[in-house]
Amino acid sequence: MARLRSQSTDIHKCATGVLAVFDRQEPVAVNGRRTWYFDDPGLQYRGDAQANAYLALNHSEEYAGGMHDAETACIRGNLDTILAHMGPKVSVIDLGCGEGRKSRDIANAAQEGGRSVILYAVDINERFLEIALRNGTESGVRTVTVLEDLTDLEAVLRMVDGDGDRFFNVGANFSLFGPEILRKVHGVMSGSDAIYVSVQLNLRDIGEIVRQYSNPTNRDFAFGALAGLGIELDDVVFSPRFNPVESSVEAVFTILNVPKPLSERGVRAGDDIVVGASFKPSLEVFASAVEKYFSGDFFVDQSTGFAGFVGRKRFNIGDKEVLRNAEAGSFKKHP
Ligand SMILES: C[S@@+](CC[C@H](N)C(=O)[O-])C[C@H]1O[C@@H](n2cnc3c(N)ncnc32)[C@H](O)[C@@H]1O
Repeated sequence: MARLRSQSTDIHKCATGVLAVFDRQEPVAVNGRRTWYFDDPGLQYRGDAQANAYLALNHSEEYAGGMHDAETACIRGNLDTILAHMGPKVSVIDLGCGEGRKSRDIANAAQEGGRSVILYAVDINERFLEIALRNGTESGVRTVTVLEDLTDLEAVLRMVDGDGDRFFNVGANFSLFGPEILRKVHGVMSGSDAIYVSVQLNLRDIGEIVRQYSNPTNRDFAFGALAGLGIELDDVVFSPRFNPVESSVEAVFTILNVPKPLSERGVRAGDDIVVGASFKPSLEVFASAVEKYFSGDFFVDQSTGFAGFVGRKRFNIGDKEVLRNAEAGSFKKHP
């Protein structure tokens, strides 16, 4: 059974007034360049065109080979550890499911292990929900779709009516939402619920990671966020880079011809606009952010540079130090 709710998230309301993002900020200097941040993840995944561009990226060799295959291997190689954190009845809640294949693997293994499982696929894009529903259902797992902003966990949980424990799959969406999503999940968890979170570490040559993001398929996907601002592809130059202060790979467009609505907001020819930022922490920073809220098991694949964690809520969080670039406040420069 699938269920969609009407689309009324803050992200969609703000899509109409999206230019206001530029009103709320001054450009900052990054690597000596005037830089604007237009990188709310919700802006990158609106509508069918952006969903299709993401699907093309997801199935491209450079990107899938670097990110998705590494995470899939990380999950499949550690299923016993992951399942050890689940009770006999579980709602697997995939926050920002995309195609939902990773949660499908987890839910399917849990069901094969004799658990009663419902998979809740949560996303702001209906196209992804259709695919996640098909993927979950084909594998024999009861799958429910939830059209909702994942950062509004209270709203998400109103749609989750399975009994038993909840297993929150944040997965690699941690790199888009940062430590703040961990704080939010922690806030709604009970003691028997569990969380899975993962990240591509900066263990590997960062130039190689940036190259993963530099292909034309990623340019076309990233450009989707700018298309709604009246900018043409010929007006920009795509040059992903590493921001060492944020420890993020940033999808950056240098703008050559500035349309009037943007020039009125202070954007100049030659400025950089970041449309997506993906946090690539060290293992130490990732572990510090996670351990502030949860205790459990880490698994790290040194060969792919991918790390995962599965665990339960920590009740005494006041005494935990968090390393500097894992602090929610310094994670990103969202206006
Ligand atoms: C990088 S993709 C990851 C997809 C999937 N979790 C995976 O690992 O393959 C990010 C997903 O999060 C969704 N998303 C982004 N912002 C969101 C939001 N605020 N609320 C719900 N979903 C969101 C996107 O539509 C997209 O499907």
